[in-house]
Amino acid sequence: MKTIGVVGCGLMGSGIAQVCAQSGYKTMIVEVSDELLKKGIDGIHRGVQKGIDKGKLTADQAKQIAANLQGTTKLEDVDECDLVVEAVIENVDEKKRIFTELDRITRPEALLATNTSSVCVIELAAVTERPDRVLGLHFFNPVPVMKLVEVVRTIATSDETIAQGREFVASLGKQPITCPDTTAFVVNKLLVPYLLDAVRMLEQGQVTREDIDKSMQLGCGYPMGPLTLLDFVGIDTTYYIANIMFDEFKNPRYAAPPLMKRMVLAGHLGKKVGRGFYDYSK
Ligand SMILES: NC(=O)c1ccc[n+]([C@@H]2O[C@H](COP(=O)([O-])OP(=O)(O)OC[C@H]3O[C@@H](n4cnc5c(N)ncnc54)[C@H](O)[C@@H]3O)[C@@H](O)[C@H]2O)c1
Repeated sequence: MKTIGVVGCGLMGSGIAQVCAQSGYKTMIVEVSDELLKKGIDGIHRGVQKGIDKGKLTADQAKQIAANLQGTTKLEDVDECDLVVEAVIENVDEKKRIFTELDRITRPEALLATNTSSVCVIELAAVTERPDRVLGLHFFNPVPVMKLVEVVRTIATSDETIAQGREFVASLGKQPITCPDTTAFVVNKLLVPYLLDAVRMLEQGQVTREDIDKSMQLGCGYPMGPLTLLDFVGIDTTYYIANIMFDEFKNPRYAAPPLMKRMVLAGHLGKKVGRGFYDYSK
């Protein structure tokens, strides 16, 4: 593989594009407008500059990233790509529309991947003529830092596609694990019930939020406690994922606690809005 397309340059797409460009791939980023494209690419350059300031990236690497990145607002411009990673909003209809288009635009041998957290990958593969070459590549936030990528195999993905996906992930300096195409894959299937249990414990009112967080930090060595982590991820995002998991498995472990629903309704969505389990307004 030499050229990679990344559709969507938000939180995840910008990180995925950065690590691709940094690893020597010609990388074509697609966004919906010039304004959002500029915002996404500026964000990448700011992140790279931070990396230089912290001594994690060199000026030469920054030059390589800039030279390898290209942006466009036309999906047709990914026609030469060997792999396209879709990282647009978590909306199944929008993703299906993009996969239909990508199937038409790209060469038949190109691989098509989605970074979805909760959509069934086979639902996207099914709108293409190449379901054997469609896979999930589930990166973690922040992409330049987090080492894991879940390589998702649907019931139609070929062995060769999985091997190529894993090889690509390794070439980015990351570690692949292969997962089945079941809702939430591996990490979220373990992480989400843990986060929901922390909210249930808070709801019972016998332990303070600070003590819940301190327990997991000091008792288990986690870098942050579950309620702080929820504030970082977004209460709405986790609520949305939990609902999808509950719909799929009907397992009470995945049922969102009532407090989460009320926080979402109140707009207490976490750090991004200045208020979640903690106050970030200052
Ligand atoms: N946020 C996370 O922590 C996280 C982690 C793993 C996976 N994901 C998944 O990654 C995907 C993207 O999430 P995000 O957090 O980066 O969202 P985001 O809202 O930050 O970015 C999505 C971007 O896609 C763009 N977009 C929408 N439609 C488009 C189109 N037709 N063509 C090109 N660009 C388009 C939007 O303009 C936006 O900039 C979702 O599927 C999400 O489930 C998110």
